[in-house]
Amino acid sequence: MSPSQELIDRLASARRVAAFTGAGISAESGVATFRAQDGLWTRFKPEELANVDAFLANPQMVWEWYQARRAVILEAEPNAGHRALVELERLIPSVSVITQNIDGLHTAAGSSEVIELHGNIRRNYCQQCRRRYDDEALLHLKAVQACECGGKIRPDVVWFGENLPAGAFERAEHRAEAADVFFSIGTSAVVYPAAGLPVLAVQAGAYLVEINPEATPLTRYANESIRSTSGAALAEVVLQLCNRLAAGGRSGN
Ligand code: APR
Repeated sequence: MSPSQELIDRLASARRVAAFTGAGISAESGVATFRAQDGLWTRFKPEELANVDAFLANPQMVWEWYQARRAVILEAEPNAGHRALVELERLIPSVSVITQNIDGLHTAAGSSEVIELHGNIRRNYCQQCRRRYDDEALLHLKAVQACECGGKIRPDVVWFGENLPAGAFERAEHRAEAADVFFSIGTSAVVYPAAGLPVLAVQAGAYLVEINPEATPLTRYANESIRSTSGAALAEVVLQLCNRLAAGGRSGN
């Protein structure tokens, strides 16, 4: 399914675009999603792994699970979808990426503004004193490590029941409210508060575009749903926008 002419026209006159992304945009980089048939939550119980009680009860088990995910993520490369969002920055005055992903692939691809709502698996901190441990060597240690304060060192990711990084969600809300076009890409849109951002955007007047092979609870709010994988869909958006700008230049403003 291709982007509509209306979307391309809107992008040609847009000043601010926001792209809200979920695990689906990294699927083509070989990183597992959570809720698809072969997703992580179909094989593991998030309440047993992705929360602080589980970590305090069994730090070594949780640490090993994240080391296994890191092993995949550290080998992963940005894909056509990540790269297309970087390309959009050449064509549109302001492009903000708001991601639920912890894989760091948007930053690796070269996106200028990446708001990481759920943290980043490449970083760690002490569960007790919050001291940061960004030493890459930690990402390869099999045994969970202790901080000097005696606390355990954990991945810098937001676990269920935890607050989002200070300021991140507020910045994301501002980008959603200011967006002329808001993309929701590769997310099942079921985890709040992040999943509230696309609706906030459309209520503030953005043209809301969902890119996902499947429908989600967000579909009913979208002005346009592109039933496609994100790599192909975003590459097509960039190609058609390039052609449109070459033919008629940036319209409006
Ligand atoms: N391109 C686009 N979308 C895809 C692709 C693809 N190649 N492959 C899968 N998808 C879609 C799926 O249809 C699904 O709707 O990506 C979505 C992934 O949904 P989830 O697995 O639920 O991941 P996400 O929405 O990012 O989860 C949100 O939940 O577990 C927590 O903190 C975790 O950030 C995560 C949050």
